[in-house]
Amino acid sequence: MRYAQITGWGKYAPPLLMTNDDMAKIVDTSDEWIFSRSGIRQRHYSHISTGDMGWMAAEQALAAAGVEADDIDLIVLGSTTPEEICPNTASYIMNKLGATKAAAFDLNSACTSWFYALNAATDMIRAASINRALVIGSERISLAMDWQKRESCFLFGDGAGAVVIEASAEETGLIASKMSCVPDSRECLRLPGWGLSPTHLTEDYFISLDFEGQEIFKSAVKGMFEAIADVLEKQHLTAEDIDLFIPHQANIRIIQTLAKRLNFPMEKVVVAIDEYANTSAASIPLALCDALQEGRVKPGMRILTATFGAGLTCGAGIVKWGDRVEPIATSDKSVAPYEGTVFDLMADSFVHYGIDAKHLLSKG
Ligand SMILES: CC(C)(COP(=O)(O)OP(=O)(O)OC[C@H]1O[C@@H](n2cnc3c(N)ncnc32)[C@H](O)[C@@H]1OP(=O)(O)O)[C@@H](O)C(=O)NCCC(=O)NCCS
Repeated sequence: MRYAQITGWGKYAPPLLMTNDDMAKIVDTSDEWIFSRSGIRQRHYSHISTGDMGWMAAEQALAAAGVEADDIDLIVLGSTTPEEICPNTASYIMNKLGATKAAAFDLNSACTSWFYALNAATDMIRAASINRALVIGSERISLAMDWQKRESCFLFGDGAGAVVIEASAEETGLIASKMSCVPDSRECLRLPGWGLSPTHLTEDYFISLDFEGQEIFKSAVKGMFEAIADVLEKQHLTAEDIDLFIPHQANIRIIQTLAKRLNFPMEKVVVAIDEYANTSAASIPLALCDALQEGRVKPGMRILTATFGAGLTCGAGIVKWGDRVEPIATSDKSVAPYEGTVFDLMADSFVHYGIDAKHLLSKG
């Protein structure tokens, strides 16, 4: 049997932070409200593109795996916020890496994109059509924040995470998986105008998220619970057999509700939402990288993951970890720093939504 072992991992967390207190300077909210309703303390906002963030995470993942870019057969970028629809952003990352022998495509299923991408690449390795793939989740979702909508603008952050997966005879990598899409739930989470629908084509490229928080909350818990039940059953396991749970990071209360329904202790759950907020397709690989860095991933562990996103797409998987939990090497690639503050970075967006933030800008 062929499996697709995760042998490398890497992340890029943009250096500029938008804390809850910063957010309260722009919209009518508070650190207390945001943290108690969502578990978020801050989010990272990026001055570089989705492609460059994905490239930085991919360089780290390649170094961690000890693999050369030339040895990669496939690059899949999971993202809701590619720079362009055509050409795809995965081919940009391919060129930056010098992965000249790789095929490259983007995959968009919203926040589940990285997980869906992991499924696609794992199955290609298991079918022996490829041997090595880079699976990246990268999002610059700060560009879609609508500062008139205090109910959603605090929820999201930017970032990227990536893994290298390689053919292996050992039963490792994504060993069980369920992907689903909740029927008739497309309207509760949307980015209208983010595409080529002629009714939405205007001169104005600012996009605004449409959102029904409580509806999503309920569907997310149900969809992930059912997907988890499916993968546990496929492997003849119960929640007690799981060593670590890395869920999509959208709201701490969603994670806690799910853990409670599974009767799963929160000590075994990786929580990164306080640090990054919801980074959409990047959320699970970012949390995985942090769990590895903190020594929470041990050789041979069974890791459960579960996710949901616009669509509403859902999924769950069981990853069997290999022997190595330390990176073979680290990458020294870097990007030019941003010379302003997080408010300077978002200045155009504030102007667009009629937010008076001049007093917050470093140049007045
Ligand atoms: C968004 C979310 C945190 C809101 O939490 P909630 O407990 O459902 O809060 P509600 O929407 O009921 O709002 C409660 C009150 O807080 C107010 N409120 C909303 N946003 C606020 C903010 N940023 N600051 C302060 N008050 C706020 C509302 O106006 C409402 O006031 P009212 O009671 O006077 O009408 C929660 O629904 C959620 O996380 N949903 C899913 C997230 C998600 O799907 N993310 C993306 C998918 S991948």
